[in-house]
Amino acid sequence: MNIAPLQPGFVGEVSGIDIGVPLSDDQVAAVEAGMDQYAVLIFHDQKLTDQQQCDFSRNFGELEATLIAQMSKPGDRRLGPVEMGDISNLDAAGKLRPRDDSRRMYALGNRLWHADASFRATGAIYSLLSARVVPSQGGDTEFADMRAAYDALDDKTKALIDGLVTEHSIAYSRAELGFEDYGPGNEDKIRPVRHSLVRTHPVTGRKSLYLSAHIGTIVGWPMPEARAFIRDLTEHATQPHFTHAHRWRVNDLVMWDNRTTMHRGRRYRDLTDVRDLRRTTIRGVGLTAEQLTALAAE
Ligand code: OGA
Ligand code: MN
Repeated sequence: MNIAPLQPGFVGEVSGIDIGVPLSDDQVAAVEAGMDQYAVLIFHDQKLTDQQQCDFSRNFGELEATLIAQMSKPGDRRLGPVEMGDISNLDAAGKLRPRDDSRRMYALGNRLWHADASFRATGAIYSLLSARVVPSQGGDTEFADMRAAYDALDDKTKALIDGLVTEHSIAYSRAELGFEDYGPGNEDKIRPVRHSLVRTHPVTGRKSLYLSAHIGTIVGWPMPEARAFIRDLTEHATQPHFTHAHRWRVNDLVMWDNRTTMHRGRRYRDLTDVRDLRRTTIRGVGLTAEQLTALAAE
């Protein structure tokens, strides 16, 4: 296996490995080491079934169910297992979702800079996104390096944010877009969770900003002040020199570390062009901050 730097220290392009077959311990360790050194790895020409994607992903930890899969009725799911995140514009029957479709509107939240599952108390470690059908135009995914963004802060800002705790909820990111239609019975899933604003990577020891569109406030701050400040930090952290745009090819698999990056999907003609991407997500381990209330089983 070889990793060529696309953006040194941030994005690497992997070759010389077939991720559709069981990997040796050494191969798994090499991918993990690559993830620690970079934060985004791109694998091309990996034609995977959902089962193969799940099997490859399980090398790195426990898979979590996406929130949307948990919140949708079984009949409204296109893919079988709740561990397969359906990042597409298709309905259960494989047809394009219409403009006012509630799942389409919910999914538009992916166009805001975010870290996956930061609305869960344990967050997520890696996400793995596999491209099955790509649109003819647009629909890139962009990544931002939260370690480089942290390093570039001035000392006063680093001192100010040291120890700050943020509150994240899916309700905050969706409210940003004016979407509030969750359906009954999902109250516990939108309850805010707390995270440290600055995280330290367990292997490299590097610090990073843990930012996400799901942040709604900073504990102990007035909400408007918190939101204005988070907006400033987000603007800083997503400057072009901290980011990389991935242009999808069919059978690409992109793997990123949600602890050290943010990402967002870019616009495409989603009412006419099919885009079928599928995501598996490695559940986080441990809390980054003390929680306000006892958490319901996730
Ligand atoms: C995701 C996501 C963005 C995109 O799958 O977690 O945010 O480009 N995707 O589809
Ligand atoms: Mn995402």
